[in-house]
Amino acid sequence: MKETHRLDQLIAAAAPCSRREASRLIRDSHVSVNGAVCRVVDRKVGDDDIVLLDGRRLTYCRHVYYMLYKPAGVLSATEDRHERTVLDLVPASMQRDGLFPAGRLDKDTTGLLILTDDGDYAHRMLSPRRHVEKRYIATVDRMPAQDAEERFSAGLTLSDGTCYQPASLRRIGADTVEVVLHEGRYHQVKRMLSCVGSRVIALHRESIGQLTLDHSLSPGELRVLSDDEAQRALR
Ligand code: URA
Repeated sequence: MKETHRLDQLIAAAAPCSRREASRLIRDSHVSVNGAVCRVVDRKVGDDDIVLLDGRRLTYCRHVYYMLYKPAGVLSATEDRHERTVLDLVPASMQRDGLFPAGRLDKDTTGLLILTDDGDYAHRMLSPRRHVEKRYIATVDRMPAQDAEERFSAGLTLSDGTCYQPASLRRIGADTVEVVLHEGRYHQVKRMLSCVGSRVIALHRESIGQLTLDHSLSPGELRVLSDDEAQRALR
């Protein structure tokens, strides 16, 4: 049997936009099905139907994946009563039911954050068992101790007993180091660097798996990831 979807679901998934915005677009005659304007929000459409939004062909995609250049000063959360969250940076045309940040960066951390509505995808990216690399650049108050690189690669244990998986540490500038982790625990980079004598002044995530931050984005901007790019963040 051919799969069918409600018209508003298809618009929301493919535009992408929220379901409410999709209903408005349908009611305001922006959508046609097989050549005729359709204002029926719950009309059933299948893969063979030709659905156009303002003349652009839409095909059903189940999930969305956005690359956000997270700026400092916003929370990696879906909502907060007092502070701005990363979802407040998503323009209305890209809002989507169930959107959330796949993983957390601290409020003051900048860089690559993926927003999606696909829980399985986020799990695959974040599970420590999958060993997806997360690469950070940290500016530090002073360089880590001499033996820090070996301690990172052996798997660091903090004085409170917290054990981290083996990670990599590399000096890349007078006051900057690169840290590569395969897990994403609370304040992990800051806590690991503190354990080897360095306080983090600024922290930036540059890549997840084989997906690198697109530097044509400015802090606070986001764009849709292609399927191939979304998959690269899992490798
Ligand atoms: N490690 C940290 O300490 N902070 C982040 O935001 C991410 C990793």
